[in-house]
Amino acid sequence: MGMQLQGKVAFVTGAGQGIGASVAKAYAREGAKVAVIDLTLDSAAHVAKEIADAGGEAMAVACDVSDRSQVEMAAEQVKAAWGRIDILVNNAGITRTAMLNKMTIEQWQQVIGVHLTGAFNCLQAVVGGMIERKYGRIIYVTSAAGVLGTIGQINYSAAKAGILGMTKSTAKELARSNITANAIAPGAATPMTEVIRTDERFKEKYLDRIPLGRWAEPEEIAPVFIFFASDASAYVTGQILAADGGMTIH
Ligand SMILES: NC(=O)c1ccc[n+]([C@@H]2O[C@H](COP(=O)([O-])OP(=O)(O)OC[C@H]3O[C@@H](n4cnc5c(N)ncnc54)[C@H](O)[C@@H]3O)[C@@H](O)[C@H]2O)c1
Repeated sequence: MGMQLQGKVAFVTGAGQGIGASVAKAYAREGAKVAVIDLTLDSAAHVAKEIADAGGEAMAVACDVSDRSQVEMAAEQVKAAWGRIDILVNNAGITRTAMLNKMTIEQWQQVIGVHLTGAFNCLQAVVGGMIERKYGRIIYVTSAAGVLGTIGQINYSAAKAGILGMTKSTAKELARSNITANAIAPGAATPMTEVIRTDERFKEKYLDRIPLGRWAEPEEIAPVFIFFASDASAYVTGQILAADGGMTIH
């Protein structure tokens, strides 16, 4: 076990699979107590058990981040067990893909609801204690889609661009409380990216845009999340770090 997050309490949303699951496991290996947050208790409990089996400390909590009262309850549950929350990772995310003239208002609202309102709900649920203790690490997850725009994802691109603004406002507003806020733009092989990675119509075209020529595994993205959660990044705030194989070099 590493020691970079020894004694810290982390609240990782969307941690039942993909990038969030690998971040939860990596944090636990670094000594953090990790609240594994996901829509269903089953998926969260699966990851929490993997952490416990490896000798780490984890708690599974079922919570829809777009639902404010569920988020408040989840944060209370974690604080009741472990006394505080030091690290928030706003990772939960969905896509609802449709060309913009065909996109339903429900598809628009669902994506905004999970990424933007969800991140805001979690921020408000944890930030009070961070301000009191004058310590906190807030990590947002954005995307190349928020910087470059993507076809068929006006909802997702808007949400991910919005997260860039949230990151910067959070960083400026909370700097006086010794709380940092940064964003990571990952590019990884997860269920979310399955269609563009496997569909013959997109596969080659997409890989051509990645200078490193391949997708990352979620485990290759997790170290960046450790960096922003640890003391190594104490003097870094309001920044966007792309771990995307160079896709957004410009
Ligand atoms: N995979 C990529 O290449 C990539 C690229 C850019 C950004 N991202 C972002 O990274 C994050 C993680 O993506 P991933 O690829 O691991 O996706 P994923 O689909 O594998 O996992 C997302 C997790 O979030 C959970 N989730 C969804 N809605 C939720 C809600 N309302 N409340 C709580 N949990 C919820 C899901 O159940 C799932 O376990 C997302 O924010 C995504 O937009 C991913």
